[in-house]
Amino acid sequence: MELAPAPRLKRDPVVDGGGSRYYSFEQLYVVGVGMRPWYGIAPNLDSEPLPDDALLGGQASLSYNYSEEPMRVFQQMANNIGIANTQRFVEGRRLFHTSFADGTHSEHDRDNPVFTAHIGQLGARYNQPRCIECHTNNGRSKPLALGAKLDTMSFLTANADGTGADPTYGHNIQQHAQDAKAPAFDVSVASFDTTVRTLPDGEKVELVKPVFAFKGPAPARYSARQAAQVIGMGLLEAVPETTILAQADPNDANGDGIKGVANLVVDPQTGKTHVGRFGWKASKGSIRQQVADALIKDLGVTSPMFPDAGCQRGAANCHSVTTPTSVSEFELERMTHYLSLIAVPAQRKLRSGFPDGVRVSPEHDVNPAQIARGSDLFAQVRCVACHTPTMKTGNTHPFAELREQTIHPYSDLLLHDMGPGLADTLAEGRAYPSQWRTAPLWGLGSLRFVQGADANVRLLHDGRARTITEAVLWHGGEATDSRTRYEALPKADRDAISAFLQSL
Ligand code: HEC
Ligand code: HEC
Repeated sequence: MELAPAPRLKRDPVVDGGGSRYYSFEQLYVVGVGMRPWYGIAPNLDSEPLPDDALLGGQASLSYNYSEEPMRVFQQMANNIGIANTQRFVEGRRLFHTSFADGTHSEHDRDNPVFTAHIGQLGARYNQPRCIECHTNNGRSKPLALGAKLDTMSFLTANADGTGADPTYGHNIQQHAQDAKAPAFDVSVASFDTTVRTLPDGEKVELVKPVFAFKGPAPARYSARQAAQVIGMGLLEAVPETTILAQADPNDANGDGIKGVANLVVDPQTGKTHVGRFGWKASKGSIRQQVADALIKDLGVTSPMFPDAGCQRGAANCHSVTTPTSVSEFELERMTHYLSLIAVPAQRKLRSGFPDGVRVSPEHDVNPAQIARGSDLFAQVRCVACHTPTMKTGNTHPFAELREQTIHPYSDLLLHDMGPGLADTLAEGRAYPSQWRTAPLWGLGSLRFVQGADANVRLLHDGRARTITEAVLWHGGEATDSRTRYEALPKADRDAISAFLQSL
């Protein structure tokens, strides 16, 4: 039996949990410079501006975290966000957390009212009712587990010759259905193919590759994808196309074995061609497209970009709809604004906090010398040939916060042939099955906090790698030389590379 809550008396203090003031934070303003992301100096946590090279997202980076909630570092506003945009940010955030089944918010259900306008809009088939269900704390999918339904991942599908949608599933498998009598389309891991690799110094590394089982018909062509962290996307959108194209080397003119080609994407609304930037194969040209694509494919929810459920099934005329969509133009923009303005955590390469022996929070308990060494080695073994350390955003993005920032995404946003070990069977745009976008490495070290534990962190497009070492050992194709150099390093140096990547 449940007890009714005690009636609240007038004189009871009102405890609001701070939710309504959540997005108010400590700022550091340096006279003559402006707002700066900061870290705290022992013994009193006095705030000091972070050095420029720790600002992975430029002035849109996030200050070091001293709250007890490091799992929320992917949900913060850019440090330099303008006042008017904070409102846009929280309005978009609300939609990211709203269930399109019953309108409930994923957090604080007592304080956050039901968003009644979105009740009952979930598609007949879907993977999740909310964005946040797959992007755990704005991070990644749940880790692969034997036998479990993989409904926090996406399985993209195509027909046998790769020219269009799968006849059963459309463009992706929607694993849940509103109608209990609808066919079950669960996807799960049937087994893991295991191999053991022995490095030159004798260290053995076990690699596992998931073998998927489909309750519905096995798709002729498919690609398994885990959700990626949604940080710094506005900054990536603000990088000029010319910057990305200048790094491409389709014929390997410089003879380093590394090509790099841009994906090209036709905007479904305007018909214009753009350089692809988002998704594991850079198949989306803008944040707006990525949002609308997630709405229709993962939630079965319509928006002005994909106004008809038929869009998911590959219907050619899916744009000829005139009825209002579930997500309005205003709301699609707000979701886009939210994702554009999420901060990138500053690199944790400085030890920071209260004095040793009192309390240094785990995120800031780092070894600066080892991190610096790892950064040098990362360049030396040529990881940087694809994981570009530094880029500059252009001066045309609609949000001033994102313009002319020096950023450190550790990606060239280009596609690389990564060899047969990582290949799937699906082409997307210009990306063929063995080509993948260089994964941006910013935020990598925060994943262990965001996902709740090291054991929940999975790397690579399908989440097969459990550690950084495993992820690197899967690198083949254009990355073979770099991987071989990495393998030949002494263990202490490989550990330094991991320490460096964990600081990002
Ligand atoms: C069923 C799980 C799932 C749900 C629900 C989901 N996503 Fe995703 N999300 C993914 C996957 C998988 C990818 C990678 C897609 C790809 O490779 O093309 C992704 C990628 C993204 C990216 C791009 C990240 C990058 O690094 O390029 C953004 C932005 C995003 N999702 C936003 C959303 C929004 C907005 C919603 C809600 C409308 C949403 N997602 C709902 C699984 C999900
Ligand atoms: C030829 C280009 C290339 C080179 C060189 C390269 N990478 Fe990568 N890296 C990629 C691509 C592409 C992916 C995404 C592959 C996938 O998901 O299947 C990736 C993914 C990763 C990931 C997983 C990221 C995530 O978000 O899950 C890590 C870690 C990584 N690389 C580290 C390294 C290190 C360390 C080196 C040097 C030893 C290196 N890479 C060299 C292209 C490259």
